[in-house]
Amino acid sequence: TRCAVLVSGGGTNLQALLDAIDADPDFGGEVVVVGSDRRDAGGLERARGRGIPTVVQGLDDHADRTAWEAALRRDVEAHRPEVVVLAGFMRILSGAFLAGWPDRVVNTHPSLLPAFRGAHAVREALDHGVKVTGCTVHLVDEQVDHGPIVAQRAVEVVAGDTEDALHERIKAVEHELLPACVKLLCHDLVAVEGRVVHVREE
Ligand code: GRF
Repeated sequence: TRCAVLVSGGGTNLQALLDAIDADPDFGGEVVVVGSDRRDAGGLERARGRGIPTVVQGLDDHADRTAWEAALRRDVEAHRPEVVVLAGFMRILSGAFLAGWPDRVVNTHPSLLPAFRGAHAVREALDHGVKVTGCTVHLVDEQVDHGPIVAQRAVEVVAGDTEDALHERIKAVEHELLPACVKLLCHDLVAVEGRVVHVREE
């Protein structure tokens, strides 16, 4: 199954996905393109290092969001992906983009949704004083961090935690959960019924 990965940051989740694909002969997927909204995204370097094509469309290079998203979509579609993975991609995609891959765009988010949606989930969980947070892999709909949940894992908050320390522990869990969920999509084992995702046995 051909996968596109979109990144805005360091790309450790992209790296984890590439490593999982390398390590698992039954993974059933390959990363055919890595896209970004930021020319300086570390994830692009990781892709280039492995000879994976990259595409970049900066929001500032376009008249408006619609034009930006259309350009990104065109560049991604050129590589004919069947699954799109948002791995630390910090922009919202509209229904026009998502329509290209119904129930096949997946995102990882560093909280137990529906708690702490948005870009500051780890800090907000700490500030709220929760004792358990975690990560969520979910299918993407038009609302931020909202679509049907594929899988979640808990991470405990410890006394004296900082945002960075907690986020690092959450990311370590994301690095297992996201590739596992992408593998399910590659094997077409994910079915959606309303808000509920059913994972079929192979
Ligand atoms: C992850 O925690 C992701 O959930 C969040 O940003 C982080 C991305 O890290 N949205 P990386 O770029 O994969 O290293």
